[in-house]
Amino acid sequence: MKCIVNLFLLLMFIPDSDIPMMEGDILIHPRGRSAINCVSCLWPKSADGTVLIPYNLSSGYSQQQVSLFQNSLQEFHTLTCIRFVPRTTEKDFISILSTGGICASFIGRIGGEQQVYLDSGSCMSRGTIQHELEHNVHRSDRDDFVTIMTQFISPDKIGNFDKMDTNNVGLEYDYGSVMHYPGNAFSNTSGQATIVPKPNPSIPIGQRIGLSPLDVSKINRLYQCDDSGLLLNSANGTVTSANYPSTYPNNSTSVWLIRTPSGQVSLQFIAFDVQFSTDCVSDYIKIFDGPSKASPVLLDRTCGMGLIPQLISSTSQMLIEFVSDTSITATGFKATYTSGAFYAPGKNFTSPGYPAAYSPNMNCIWKITAPAGYKISLTLHDFMMESAPNCIYDSLSIYDGADTSSVLMVKYCGTKSARTFNSTGNAMMLNFISDKSFQYKGFLASFVFVSAT
Ligand SMILES: *[C@@H]1O[C@H](CO)[C@@H](O)[C@H](O)[C@H]1NC(C)=O
Ligand SMILES: *[C@@H]1O[C@H](CO)[C@@H](O)[C@H](O)[C@H]1NC(C)=O
Ligand SMILES: *[C@@H]1O[C@H](CO)[C@@H](O)[C@H](O)[C@H]1NC(C)=O
Ligand SMILES: *[C@@H]1O[C@H](CO)[C@@H](O)[C@H](O)[C@H]1NC(C)=O
Ligand SMILES: *[C@@H]1O[C@H](CO)[C@@H](O)[C@H](O)[C@H]1NC(C)=O
Ligand SMILES: *[C@@H]1O[C@H](CO)[C@@H](O)[C@H](O)[C@H]1NC(C)=O
Ligand SMILES: *[C@@H]1O[C@H](CO)[C@@H](O)[C@H](O)[C@H]1NC(C)=O
Repeated sequence: MKCIVNLFLLLMFIPDSDIPMMEGDILIHPRGRSAINCVSCLWPKSADGTVLIPYNLSSGYSQQQVSLFQNSLQEFHTLTCIRFVPRTTEKDFISILSTGGICASFIGRIGGEQQVYLDSGSCMSRGTIQHELEHNVHRSDRDDFVTIMTQFISPDKIGNFDKMDTNNVGLEYDYGSVMHYPGNAFSNTSGQATIVPKPNPSIPIGQRIGLSPLDVSKINRLYQCDDSGLLLNSANGTVTSANYPSTYPNNSTSVWLIRTPSGQVSLQFIAFDVQFSTDCVSDYIKIFDGPSKASPVLLDRTCGMGLIPQLISSTSQMLIEFVSDTSITATGFKATYTSGAFYAPGKNFTSPGYPAAYSPNMNCIWKITAPAGYKISLTLHDFMMESAPNCIYDSLSIYDGADTSSVLMVKYCGTKSARTFNSTGNAMMLNFISDKSFQYKGFLASFVFVSAT
């Protein structure tokens, strides 16, 4: 099959480069190849069903940016059969460059070394990284679902909106795609949109948080990937095992990636019933603090019945894996997730109002859960509460476990100097109580997770 690149009215030029660019961030190769509607420009599929895309990352990124880049790749790996792998000797590969002041890439596989520009100053967010990498995988679409407001586009920018023959692989138009341009793209008039969704102009477009569920479906359909992970990208929602509350299927593995728009993920189980086996060798659930099975474990293999404590990720990503063997199934699980700021390792937290006086008649609880294999090291930096024998009026109690039935490590009142408390397991609970009289500033504390081994 021949790969024909469309003709564009105008081409933009990247500074310090002779490679022309269109649609703001798409590079056009002088040889004129592109993956627009072009099956032979896809990356080849390996015998094991994965699609390997070798890449070489330039040396111009900080350690933190390299981590973010890896995190962005891991979402592709969890959700699709695309595998970005460090290049060794492969002839065709993408070369990620930190220079140029732009975020831009080619469309599809062009052969040989193909450059992706991810400026280390302005392009290093997960959504932008994934947007540029996805160009290398396929072309996103734009058709009759938006109105282009040409009255706000200067003639020399109009070429960015040329309609292209694209491959939608039969899926619906995706306003929430990480590939979609924002509503004000190339506007020459402040406050005036150039792209207006139809029929509802208030549909949000142009998000750069990360891949959308339809972005994932599009890649999987284009490359005919086998079942991959399911992406849940709302701020809150529900996850259930397949067929819940009927029995889950035999012989299956399911993966859910929760990636909330911001904050951390908090997962609360409502029901849990999974075939019991010793060490959960048969059916099990396992939960990770991040986007892949290589991320730290939040909940190790768990099976049987009963409730699982609330789990909180350290970032906006949490991965749930659910595996069943070939016999005996149960009803599985149901859980809800929300996002927000939870008490995170290394961050200070305080009694309400600190350093101003706390209120009378308070009863507050903080529950801290570390990933499996970690314990909690809590430091009270500053402490002042009403003093009384046995702390009978105001007090802070610290428990070595998830609730008040756990061992009481200390019951504090009065004025105390800084001190550290270590849990023996992966949970700790603080209970702060005040009575109706005499209020002081309370406490300032922080915690870290330390390896239990
Ligand atoms: C990969 O990038 C590094 C750092 O920029 C460079 O030194 C190396 O030559 C590149 N390797 C390949 C295979 O392109
Ligand atoms: C914006 O673009 C429109 C259409 O090309 C043009 O008529 C108008 O003069 C431009 N406005 C500005 C402020 O450049
Ligand atoms: C869930 O998110 C929606 C908006 O995305 C919001 O309206 C709703 O209040 C949230 N519910 C909870 C329980 O946080
Ligand atoms: C389990 O599923 C795999 C792939 O889906 C299949 O190859 C295998 O035969 C199945 N095993 C049983 C015992 O059903
Ligand atoms: C799972 O397999 C067992 C036999 O090994 C069968 O009795 C059961 O109905 C199967 N469950 C489902 C949901 O297919
Ligand atoms: C936490 O509070 C302590 C004591 O005031 C302070 O030294 C430290 O810098 C604070 N840490 C953070 C992360 O704010
Ligand atoms: C608690 O654990 C930390 C980190 O492992 C250690 O430095 C500290 O000495 C321990 N403190 C106590 C009171 O055990």
